[in-house]
Amino acid sequence: MKNETYIADISQHKDQVVTVSGWLYNRRSSGKVHFLLVRDGTGIIQAVVGKKDVDEETFEKCKELPQESSLKVTGLVHEDHRAPGGFELHVNKVEIVHIAQDYPITPKEHGTTFLMDHRHLWLRSSKQHAILRVRHAIIRAARDFFDKKGFTLVDAPIFTPAACEGTSTLFETDYFGSKAYLTQSGQLYMEAAAMAFGKVYCFGPTFRAEKSKTRRHLTEFWMIEPEMAYCDLDGNMDIAEEFIEYIVQRILEENKEELKRLERDTSKLEKVQRPFPRISYDEAAKMLKDAGLDFVYGDDFGAPDETYISDQFDRPVMVHRYPAEVKAFYMKPDPADSTKALCVDVLAPEGYGEIIGGGQREDDYDKLIEKIKEHDLPMEAFEWYLDVRRYGSVPHAGFGMGIERAVAWICGLKHIRETIPFPRTISRIQP
Ligand code: 4AD
Ligand code: MG
Repeated sequence: MKNETYIADISQHKDQVVTVSGWLYNRRSSGKVHFLLVRDGTGIIQAVVGKKDVDEETFEKCKELPQESSLKVTGLVHEDHRAPGGFELHVNKVEIVHIAQDYPITPKEHGTTFLMDHRHLWLRSSKQHAILRVRHAIIRAARDFFDKKGFTLVDAPIFTPAACEGTSTLFETDYFGSKAYLTQSGQLYMEAAAMAFGKVYCFGPTFRAEKSKTRRHLTEFWMIEPEMAYCDLDGNMDIAEEFIEYIVQRILEENKEELKRLERDTSKLEKVQRPFPRISYDEAAKMLKDAGLDFVYGDDFGAPDETYISDQFDRPVMVHRYPAEVKAFYMKPDPADSTKALCVDVLAPEGYGEIIGGGQREDDYDKLIEKIKEHDLPMEAFEWYLDVRRYGSVPHAGFGMGIERAVAWICGLKHIRETIPFPRTISRIQP
């Protein structure tokens, strides 16, 4: 149906007559000319409609045309350095496709609840548009990274029989008379797949019944999870830092326009280069104590603790070897100190906190059984997972990065809710 021109490609059509199909973003008029700002999803262009250039009826209609009405404008592409984007359209034909009702989102300030209630429309506005474009680019870069390194994409299931990340955040559902849970992580399946393919990753939605309201938690979020056979904690950290550097540098290259629209201080992102500092949990705990923060040694870091630690560095910091007690059942203990786990959290700078969690997995059959018992998990549900340790068990490691946490940091957003098209939180399942 469409052989018209997209605004993003307009520079290739200088001095040609083209048709742009889109929506009215904004409008101002003097008596003799209307300036219509038309957006088509790929960009915004100013369409100049002179009284003499179109018939009288069209000219009158344009004067009253409400915001977000859909229309097709045909005209000559004219280079003008003053115009946003460097080009404008000198219009000789306007086809109005649909006259919009009063659009609820106006240029005035709206509260967040109102905007979130209208999320389906809010996506059309400039800042939200930029964020979701960056999100797309981050996902593309993340997949490119693993694809280029020879990882195989293996999709993990969404319905699962057991918990991966603790039983307190499970979403339970009825599965033909028995219990199933929405997946919290594809990791356990990636461990099995790594034994078949060597290097694998999954990318999909994950679910956690997060019962508290925070700036960092969604109940439905997307995670990319690589897993590597014959890999230890150090090898895992090497991949994690290369991965983050790659993503950030790609976004800096490919999304200049969006980062500008988001008023992101890109000098901070330019510093995201390897090597990243690596500190142990003990070192991080000492930093908190020295700073006089109210932190109890042995506990997991809370959001203020992570903020403080990440604020001390100008690039992501990798914190390794947390107390095994605060971490998941599958973590391998540090042979040098069995109270610690061979795990790593990557904390993003500028106070963003954890964006990656991962580590080396327990590969010993008997020790894993002990851990499953200790964590009070149902052994039957893990029988298949134990097979990974029964048949050619090897050291292996991996990690998960929450896409939304990465988007929040790279875009410089205060709250995670704007990083996903339709956010799900404890208080929101609409729209
Ligand atoms: O640290 P987590 O819980 O680790 C895992 O799920 C491992 N199984 C991953 C692996 O090793 N394959 O979660 C990993 C990441 C966090 O660092 C964070 O970026 C994100 O997932 N995340 C959330 N993002 C948004 N909302 C939530 N409620 C999140 N919970 C975790
Ligand atoms: Mg974590």
